[in-house]
Amino acid sequence: MNIDRCKLIDLPKIYDKRGSLIPIESSSTIPFQIKRIYYIYDVPEGSGRGGHAHKELEQLFIAISGSFDVILDDGKATKKINLNRPDVGLYVSPMMWRTLENFSSNSVCLVIASLAFDENDYFRNYNDYLSALNLTKP
Ligand code: TYD
Repeated sequence: MNIDRCKLIDLPKIYDKRGSLIPIESSSTIPFQIKRIYYIYDVPEGSGRGGHAHKELEQLFIAISGSFDVILDDGKATKKINLNRPDVGLYVSPMMWRTLENFSSNSVCLVIASLAFDENDYFRNYNDYLSALNLTKP
């Protein structure tokens, strides 16, 4: 899966003097049907999350508050993306190794996902992930 399939999506902001609102709908806002959401918060300084890939799952990552980095790795190339605003989401395709790090204090990472939780959908071992891509460690 090519890293270029992962892209930033501008979310539709509705704002007036009372503040801002962002609706997210399947298909029109993001390219998959929403099955699950979860959020990550209270990440201790210096800690990371992720460190795995998914076989089928599609996801959108949003820095609802604060900021953090997402490092994408498709086995051939890596890319670091800083998410720091609630009106931009990062679409992450299946078969993409990802690591989240550099969380600012009080940051909240909202994740919108295309499938229910399934541990069998994970590659938690990087070499297994590379093997599934017919790649080996350099
Ligand atoms: P994990 O996906 O490894 O978290 P992260 O990518 O943020 O590092 O999940 C951490 C734990 O939470 C793991 O035991 C699985 C569990 N979990 C669920 O039960 N449901 C979920 O929707 C998610 C995302 C994780």
